[in-house]
Amino acid sequence: MSDESKAQTLAERAAELRAALNYHIYRYHVLSSPVVTDYEYDRLMNELKAIEAEHPELVAPDSPTQRVGSDLTEGFASVAHPAPILSLSNAFNADDIRAWRTRIDKLLPDELKLRDGRDPLAYTIEPKYDGLTIVLTYTAGLLTLGATRGSGEVGDDVTNNVRTVGSIPRRIPVDPNAGVKAPPRLVVRGEALILKDAFEKFNEQQEAAGQPTYVNARNMASGALRQIDPRVTAARPLTTYCYGVVDADDSGGIVPDSQAGRLDYLRALGFLVDGVLTKRIEELEAVIAYVTGWDGDLPFEIDGLVIKVDDCAVYSALGIVGKDPRGAIAYKLPSEEVTTKLLAVEENVGRTGVITPSAKLEPVFLSGVTVSNATLHNYDDITRKDIRAGDMVIVKRSGGVIPYVVGPVAGARTGTEEPIEPPARCPVCATPVVRDEGEVAYYCPNLACPARVHRNIEYFVSKAALDIEGLGTKIVQQLLDAGLIQDEADVFTLAEKKDKLLALDGFGEKKVSNLLSAVEAAKTRPLPRLVAALGIKGVGESIAELLTGVYPAMDALAAALAEDIETIPGIGPNIAHAVAGWFAAPRNRDLIERLRAAGVRLAMDAPAAEVEQVLAGMTFVLTGTLPHLTRAAAAALIEAHGGKVTGSVSGKTSYVVAGENPGSKLAKAQQLGVPVLDEAGLLALVGEGAPLGAPPIQPALF
Ligand code: IVH
Repeated sequence: MSDESKAQTLAERAAELRAALNYHIYRYHVLSSPVVTDYEYDRLMNELKAIEAEHPELVAPDSPTQRVGSDLTEGFASVAHPAPILSLSNAFNADDIRAWRTRIDKLLPDELKLRDGRDPLAYTIEPKYDGLTIVLTYTAGLLTLGATRGSGEVGDDVTNNVRTVGSIPRRIPVDPNAGVKAPPRLVVRGEALILKDAFEKFNEQQEAAGQPTYVNARNMASGALRQIDPRVTAARPLTTYCYGVVDADDSGGIVPDSQAGRLDYLRALGFLVDGVLTKRIEELEAVIAYVTGWDGDLPFEIDGLVIKVDDCAVYSALGIVGKDPRGAIAYKLPSEEVTTKLLAVEENVGRTGVITPSAKLEPVFLSGVTVSNATLHNYDDITRKDIRAGDMVIVKRSGGVIPYVVGPVAGARTGTEEPIEPPARCPVCATPVVRDEGEVAYYCPNLACPARVHRNIEYFVSKAALDIEGLGTKIVQQLLDAGLIQDEADVFTLAEKKDKLLALDGFGEKKVSNLLSAVEAAKTRPLPRLVAALGIKGVGESIAELLTGVYPAMDALAAALAEDIETIPGIGPNIAHAVAGWFAAPRNRDLIERLRAAGVRLAMDAPAAEVEQVLAGMTFVLTGTLPHLTRAAAAALIEAHGGKVTGSVSGKTSYVVAGENPGSKLAKAQQLGVPVLDEAGLLALVGEGAPLGAPPIQPALF
């Protein structure tokens, strides 16, 4: 390549990078809705900086290297920071860190220079919190100002919002007995963020309320801090970790002169400060290796580590280059987000008919696995984020969860991308879809939709429901394919199809007999389990317990009106209507009938079997102690079979039942010629056989 065309390419590349970076800066700072990860942003920025350093003639007036990002928004007063709120240069690997150490070496006094590979400096290693910088000013111990970073020189006054954050002390020291004092003025730097748990919980609540959810915790923190109404901020679970002293009026020398010492001091004053490590340079690599391969069970999101020269005097003496202090560097963790192409959107029909969009992606490597599918939450979300088929999209995978599409890289559009419309018809059975008021989901209302039926059967037999061992997803599919089952009730008719089962691939005698006994056992599951297994929207096992507590039989529940069900404490109108609606559908009524016909228990307890009144018209007299039955139990047994028990023997007495140590009644019976039975004789008479452990039945003792 000629020098000329090389220069041309570089100029083009620089222009490309400027355009991309300026767009990302706008997305990030103005819209609070970035479309690339910080990691990707930093890479682009570093590439541009490298080109401009080599070719100063390529530095254009609109180059993002020529300005600092600004998050100044209208609506807040601007405040000047007492000292520039600096940023950090980045390292992406151990080599970058070593290069940083070598760079600063020439600026250090001799005694602190690297010598024979040994480094006299100590460093702190801190989490690089993925939130927003917040600058807190305390005057005479009182929180007097809270400001965003803004341009680094001037920020937004968000004091009223900051005052709502629980982890930010209103007065320091928080504990007057802590044994530390605050200087007359102290300016502290920290990071406002939303803890992972709080983020999940908040989004779940938003989703349940049909409100928009946040893409990530950082966006949520940024939104929370910029609320014009502090009450809204107060309702968002903001947390602030502090990690630095920006400025202090400290003639008394209260503030420690090492970074590790300062962090301890801030903690003692009552700030939230995470653990800090002080390390030698040789140890940094091990720490980095550890953090990189770590699943991250920190309560907050980090995007790396910050390494700082521990000695504050040395740190300051090293000075600043651009807007970055030389004495610190950020080690950026490889991102758990990647950009790839959204090839198509697949529509999946679930058990309740809800149709969920799923992204088919150009396969991409993401935190150790190749990803080609990702969740797209719902169609409202797709519209809100303006995700289009063919878009380059950001895919994120956090903590082992299913990867999801964060949003499109709108700047990468070619014009061929297609909008994604919610389906008008079920993709499986073509029934027009339905959307309930106030709900985000579109669903297929056809109860006989093959996709729904399939998912229902899977659920019906699953561990969470009837727990039929040996009927996993694959086997259910095999049985469906072979036409052996068409709905849930068919599962209980499998015993009649034993020959066909045996003919299936992979089904031997043993497997079939195990399966059939598991099916048989499932016929007598407790009623709440069966009700939960029906897959009625919103009815899991605990709701089923409530329902069957009031309606202890399937028929009673089926006949209940929604307004009656609604009166059960703990059951709301939605579930009440779902239950009544479910039983109103002919397909479901038929299902219940077929379960009944198959011998599935449909009541709370096994109904008392009809007892044959074999002793009708007979009178019994009991005497002595029977080997197993108490006198009361024996009487109950006789009465249950239609007999009567009287106290004295007469000519009308049908039988005397005698045990050990009989009294005069036995003699009277013998005298009158009344037949005498022992316990086994009585049991034989009622056809119940001997109770456990009873001696073999003898017709009569005497
Ligand atoms: S020190 C001059 N320490 O990272 C010192 N920054 O890319 C610069 N950050 O804007 C900041 N955790 O918002 C420092 N433990 C930490 C940090 C941290 C997160 C953020 C900070 C800054 C950005 C720099």
